[in-house]
Parts: sequence; C-alpha cells; structure tokens
Amino acid sequence: SVLEMEVEQIKKGNYEHFMQKEIHEQPHSLTTTMRGRLRDKSVILGGLKVHLKTIRHSRRVIFIGCGTSYNAALAARPFLEELSGIPVTMEIASDLLDRQGPIYREDTAVFVSQSGETADTLLALEYALKNGALCVGITNTVGSTLARKTHCGVHINAGCEIGVASTKAYTSQIVVMTMMALAIGDDKISTQARREATIDSLYNLPNVVREVLQRDGEMKDLAKSLIDEESLLVFGRGYNYATALEGALKVKEVALMHSEGMLAGEMKHGPLALVDESLPIIVIATNDSCFSKQQSVIQQLRARKGRLIVMCSEGDASLVCHSGSCRVIEVPQVADCLQPVVNIIPLQLLAYHLTVLRGYNVDQPRNLAKSVTTL
Ligand code: G6P
Repeated sequence: SVLEMEVEQIKKGNYEHFMQKEIHEQPHSLTTTMRGRLRDKSVILGGLKVHLKTIRHSRRVIFIGCGTSYNAALAARPFLEELSGIPVTMEIASDLLDRQGPIYREDTAVFVSQSGETADTLLALEYALKNGALCVGITNTVGSTLARKTHCGVHINAGCEIGVASTKAYTSQIVVMTMMALAIGDDKISTQARREATIDSLYNLPNVVREVLQRDGEMKDLAKSLIDEESLLVFGRGYNYATALEGALKVKEVALMHSEGMLAGEMKHGPLALVDESLPIIVIATNDSCFSKQQSVIQQLRARKGRLIVMCSEGDASLVCHSGSCRVIEVPQVADCLQPVVNIIPLQLLAYHLTVLRGYNVDQPRNLAKSVTTL
C-alpha cells in the first residue's frame, strides 16, 4: 500500500536502500555494541560473568552458526584461541547436524545468530543442550528463541537489521566475540599488554570505520569496472580468511555474481589454475603477521598476469603493488584482531554498488530470506 511504502521510506531516512543505510550506520552500531561494556582497561559482559570460570575450564569452544554469523565467528576465532589457550573449532550448524558430530559436557558451544531464529542453528542448539555442553548465545534479537534457550549469552545491540544481506550485525558480532575473548582471557598476566592494546583499538574503532566509509566513491568506481564480470575471487588468510568468505558472500547474495572466498594458503593447491588476465581477484594483504606470506601470494599471482585488486594498510601500496600493475584499496590499520571489522567495509560497499549498477534488488535478493526458519 501507499502508506506502507511511505513508512518504509521514512525508515530509510536519507538512504536509498536499507543495506546502504545499515552499512553507513556502522560507526553508530559499533558504539552501541560496546556501550557500557568497556571500563577503562577491562571488558564487562554481564551475561557471561558468572560463567567465565566454567568457560575457562572447558576443553574446547565450538562456534556454531550459518552464513554471515558463521563468518563473524571465524573472524574472532584466532584471537579467542590466542587469549584463552583453548582449542576453538568451527561448525556450520547444518553440517554438525548432518554428521551428528561429537559434543561433550566439557565443551562450551557458542551459537551465533543475528535473528536468533535460524532453524539450523536452533536445532544444533537443542542437540548441544542434550549432550550437556554449556551453551552461549550471541544474538541481535532480545527475546529470540536463541536468547531464551541458551544458558547465557551476549546481545550484540546493533539495532534492527532489515536488509537481507547482513552488514552491521556482522561487524558487531565480531566486536562482541572479541570482547568475549578479552573477558575469558582476563585472568592471564602474560597477555595483559596485548589485551590493553586491543581495548584501546576498540575505543577508536567507530572513528576508523567512519573514515573507511569515506571510500564509498572509490568502491563505486571499482564496482563500475566489475559490472560485467562473471566471477570474482577473494583471497585472505589469518584474521582475514573470514573477510574473504564474507566479502564473497556479500557479492554472490546481493550482486548475483559468482564469487568465492578462498584461503590464500590453499591457492597453490588448486585455485591457481583459474588465474588468467581477465578473472578479477581481490587479495587482502593488510599489515599483520601474515603480511610477508601475502606479499609472496601477490607475486605468484602477478607472475601469472592475474588481474589484481589488493587491499593493504595505508602507506603500503608500494609494498604490494609495483609499477601500478594492480588496483589498490588502502585502509587504516587497527589491532590485528579487529582488522576484519575495517576490511569488510569496502567489500560491503563494493557489493552494494555492484548490485545497484547491475540493476538487482539490494534489500531482498532473489531466492533469499532474512531469517531461514525452516529446515
Ligand atoms: C540467512 C540470511 C543470511 C544470514 C543467515 C544466518 O541465510 O540470508 O544473511 O547470515 O541466514 O542468519 P542468522 O539470523 O542466524 O544470523
């Protein structure tokens, strides 16, 4: 109806689409996610407090989710492993159920779901509860089934997300799981400096994200150059393996373009065969402990005349791209474990512009639903 359409326009404010609005809202949504949870040099998560000891003593942490929520957990995994010393394993909810994979009383199962109503995730939760694991929920929806049925958890407080493709929930999920890692690791003197540096970086994160959003025009130009492509590869590793998966997921779900996120360390074991002068490849090579390995990946791709788009830290363009042979996206550097929050922003913008330029529906992509509540 006309009224419904008008209400929708009011909710979008000055933006043309919800996805666009939600991408640009991220400095604010990240602020609300952290509000009241950072105290000077420590993190306070009320919903986990009394369970921290149990979590520290668990034999394994299992992250369980679907789609973007799974990717967010993957981004947080290395830091949680580092700070807790506990093995952290990853499960796509449906795959855990298909295999009826082992889960024990000594496990902490962390369920990640924006809606808190995804059927696969909820069924995996029932399964983990039955097996006696401590079940933690990370969700954006107060009162959701996930929030009610888990033993404890954290709300991400990103605000209502309407676009089917998740954007602001993704970055808030990473921040919440990073804060969770900080809270779990809070009892260790050996990592205190590392934790404090990360907390400092968290305080500044909304400002950095605001800065990256200024690259909107640049990403629109990049989208124009990719508008007629059939395929786009994204290579990442370490903290930014998740960025590669999530960037590619955005492109395929809204721009309806084939796109694959790949682990750069696996490139030589197959994907390298795809490289030629025409296939566009995004390589994420921001400055962290994997940087020199990513530099050699770029060299190998250049030796095969790959069509490269390299994301690097500000000031590193000459280190990743010699003699202007590739396109560069420069982003500000933050703490390595938070870099995925920054790095996904240009890729969200790219997917958005690619979709609009290709003439597809950004907010309700073909065949997809915001929350999949059936099996
Ligand atoms: C659907 C949506 C995705 C989302 C996934 C998990 O497939 O299209 O954008 O990532 O569900 O949703 P959840 O609400 O559990 O995070």
